[in-house]
Amino acid sequence: MNVTWVHSLPTGKETGTFLTIDLGGTNLRVCKVTLHGESAKNKDQKYDIEQEQYKFPNSIKSTNADELWTHVAEKLEDFIENKGLAKEYDDKNKMPLGFCFSYPATQDGIDHAVLQRWTKGFDIDGVEGHDAAAQLRAKMEEKKLPLDLICVINDTVGALVASAYSDPATIIGGIFGTGCNAAYMSSVSSIKKLSPDDERLKDKDGNTRPLMAINCEYGAFDNARKVLPWTKYDAQIDEESPRPGQQAFEKLSAGLYLGEIFRLILVEFADRGLIFADQEKNGNEKLRQRYSIDTGFLSQIENDETEGFTDTRGMFRDVLGLDVADEELEVFRRVAELIAVRGARLCACGVAAICLEEGITEGHVAADGSVANKHPHFKKRWAKALDQILGFDSVGEDQDPIIITSADDGSGVGCAIIAAMEMEDRLQRQ
Ligand code: BG6
Ligand code: GLC
Repeated sequence: MNVTWVHSLPTGKETGTFLTIDLGGTNLRVCKVTLHGESAKNKDQKYDIEQEQYKFPNSIKSTNADELWTHVAEKLEDFIENKGLAKEYDDKNKMPLGFCFSYPATQDGIDHAVLQRWTKGFDIDGVEGHDAAAQLRAKMEEKKLPLDLICVINDTVGALVASAYSDPATIIGGIFGTGCNAAYMSSVSSIKKLSPDDERLKDKDGNTRPLMAINCEYGAFDNARKVLPWTKYDAQIDEESPRPGQQAFEKLSAGLYLGEIFRLILVEFADRGLIFADQEKNGNEKLRQRYSIDTGFLSQIENDETEGFTDTRGMFRDVLGLDVADEELEVFRRVAELIAVRGARLCACGVAAICLEEGITEGHVAADGSVANKHPHFKKRWAKALDQILGFDSVGEDQDPIIITSADDGSGVGCAIIAAMEMEDRLQRQ
């Protein structure tokens, strides 16, 4: 549970133009966000965004801090050049930058974030235990980028804030993607890590601010493996990961791992001679390659409505070079379903735990991430599990007191709004 120094949800009036950078796992995204606040012509279009998305090279995921920040700064530099921003901003008039860094970080303030540990398969030397903001700032200075790093946020906090900008019923920001995690607003008095006398909690009049967004980091729940049942496939995923023993909950439920769990089950069936009869022995090695099946593969299996499941058969041929028999197909569909159902139900547990602990009884859970957005049944399964845990009469997803909604762009818009709130706060304190 990490404190974030985000003290309120937005009023919806925040304005300004900001650059944001999103370092989340799959992609590196740079955005120029203009917030219109109350002057928005249309309440559904309260911001404009221009963005570039760069695929994050796999090789960088296991390199060192210098290469990481050089890569990030280069993308910022490209963006500034391509969008002609160097004409508007310089060393004396820097453009405000928000940084969405979606990893567990200890924050002493909003412009500072010491990485506790890499998650989601990252393993870059020289960042854990260091302030990621300071490292990025140093690289930006080296490259003389006209940027002022205002805030570092987690993607869950971004989703919470971005969604609340247009939807005041937002209570939680949840990411169900490569990783899984959520954030909510807590009363400061219930945060045991902080003393209410802490100067950093005071507003311009010296009053302790009542609220703070909490980044739960519940992907690390049950690292001691005392609560949840584990299968041997889960144990193998953990052992073969760069950080065994960490992110236990995430390894059971998040997008990075679901496809790999499926692959491990298929490998076992093949080893026992139950599937792919002679095919596998004839040299097909793709199935044996770690992470050769991703979560999109499972989504497509469950989404396949073609007659005789021709799409699924085609996918097995294209991705793994294997022909699938009718009975195998039936088993694979069931296994894909079991893995995804378990994942969705666990994701609902995380959110239900927040609601129970905080006494939240209604509102919108703003969800983002590839699993929430792309898996055909995730939201339905998630909603059913939440109904069961919280004891709602199952009147249907849309009428439940707590429903899952699609988050607005957290790492772009959410990050810009938080930068705007922080700049306003600094102004008030002067
Ligand atoms: C994006 C959000 O849409 O989803 C990011 O803007 C977030 O803030 C990401 O990190 C999570 O999704 P995935 O599937 O890439 O992990
Ligand atoms: C991982 C990260 C967390 C992030 C989540 C979703 O759990 O540790 O910070 O919010 O993935 O991207």
